This record gives sequence, structure tokens and C-alpha cells, in this order.
Amino acid sequence: MNKDKLILRTRFIERASHWVMVLCFLAVALSGLSWFFPSLNGLNAVFGTPQLARILHPFFGVVVFLLLAFLFVRFVKYNLPEREDLAWFRNVRQVLAGEHEPALQIGKYNAGQKILFWGIMGLISVLLVSGVVIWRPYFAPWFSIPSIRIGLLVHAIAGICLILLIIGHAYLAFWVKGSIRGMVTGYVSRSWAKTHHDRWYRQISNKQSGSGKQQ
Ligand code: HEM
Repeated sequence: MNKDKLILRTRFIERASHWVMVLCFLAVALSGLSWFFPSLNGLNAVFGTPQLARILHPFFGVVVFLLLAFLFVRFVKYNLPEREDLAWFRNVRQVLAGEHEPALQIGKYNAGQKILFWGIMGLISVLLVSGVVIWRPYFAPWFSIPSIRIGLLVHAIAGICLILLIIGHAYLAFWVKGSIRGMVTGYVSRSWAKTHHDRWYRQISNKQSGSGKQQ
């Protein structure tokens, strides 16, 4: 497609971090789920063997955290709460029904995406802290048995919550046609931007000097 008609939404380094993080997240989430019930044990084959899963799960978890920390730095400015987000909440039913007639003043990310962003960042932080407390053989010996028990419970609950959030995130990404292409190629069409992120579209259209390359 002609790039003049497209708008750069996500830069290469952010897309690469997102998709590498998704692969690591899948491995960490599947191996984590494998320890919930014996019937799920087979899922730890994602790392080859159960022993490798036990060793690698926390290391890959740290990689997920670091990549998300990088995305946090890159995206936090677009995910701060703004007064305009109220319009999205007031019209959430129309948004879900795909009726974008009223200008909702949506910035680069909508209020729902912002909630998801903070949910993901909060939960990954809880997972990191609780993960360190229960990480044998390296850090767990520094903590008391009751702390490790609490750490295990918190880690399991935060893990389930994050997996549920991500299922919602992936579902919405497929549901809003054009979003996945934005995260794969970096570019979205002007009409996509106008329909889903009208205020962001106006801001970049105003800034654009005809190169079609600004975010
Ligand atoms: C198959 C799974 C996934 C798909 C299809 C997917 C898809 C996407 C897409 C299309 C976007 C761009 C949205 C836009 O431009 O409006 C995005 C953004 C994002 N994704 Fe994912 N994603 C997946 C998994 C994950 C996982 C596992 C995480 C974190 C644990 C994650 C964290 C994020 C974050 C932080 C953003 C930026 C959103 C913001 O700043 O508000 N994604 N994802």
C-alpha cells in the first residue's frame, strides 16, 4: 500500500519488543499454568522438559518484565489519564457496537487501552516482586517460610489475572480490524486512525509536513 496514505503508529523497536515479549510471555504463562493442576503438566513441554521449565520460567519472566519496562517508558506518555477519556466511558456502548459517529476525542490510546496498560504494568510488577521471593535456589532462602507462602499465593493470583487481561487484549486487537497490522508493519491507514483515534489523528495531521511518517 502507498505509504503516503498511511500513518506510522508504532516504531520498529517498540514492535520488536512487543512481539519478542509476547513469545516469552506465552512460554512463561504456559509453564506457569502447567503447575496449577496435574492435568495441565503437559504445558511445560513449552521449554522442552519439566526440569528446564522449572529453571527457565523465572528467567524468561524477567525478560518479559524488562521488555515491558521498556514499553512502559516508550508509551507511558500516551496512557496518562486525560479529561477527554470521560467521553469514551460515557459512549462505551457505542464504541463496543462499532458506532464511531460522535467524535470521542480519543488520543493515541483509548481509555480502555489505558486501563489495560496500567493493569499489565501493575501486575507484571507484582509478579516480579513475588517471583523473587519464591525464586529457589537464588532468592527464596532470604525469606521466611510464611513470606514464601504469601509470595506463592500472590504470584499465582497475579499470573491468572495477567493471563485473563492478555486474553482480553489479544481479543480486542483482533476485533478492531487494522490494529494487528499496525503492530506488525508499524503503519495504520488514515481512515483507521480517524475512526478509532480521532484526536490523535488530528494532532498528527496538524503536525505532518507531508512525509506521512510522524507519530
Ligand atoms: C497474541 C497476543 C497479542 C496480540 C495479538 C497483541 C496485539 C497488540 C496490538 C495490535 C497492539 C497495538 C494497539 C494499538 O495500536 O492501538 C498492542 C499493544 C500493546 N500490547 Fe499487545 N498483543 C498481544 C500480547 C501482549 C502481551 C502478552 C502483552 C504484555 C504482557 C502485551 C502488551 C501490550 C502493550 C503494553 C501495548 C501498548 C498499549 C498501550 O500503550 O496502551 N501484548 N498489542
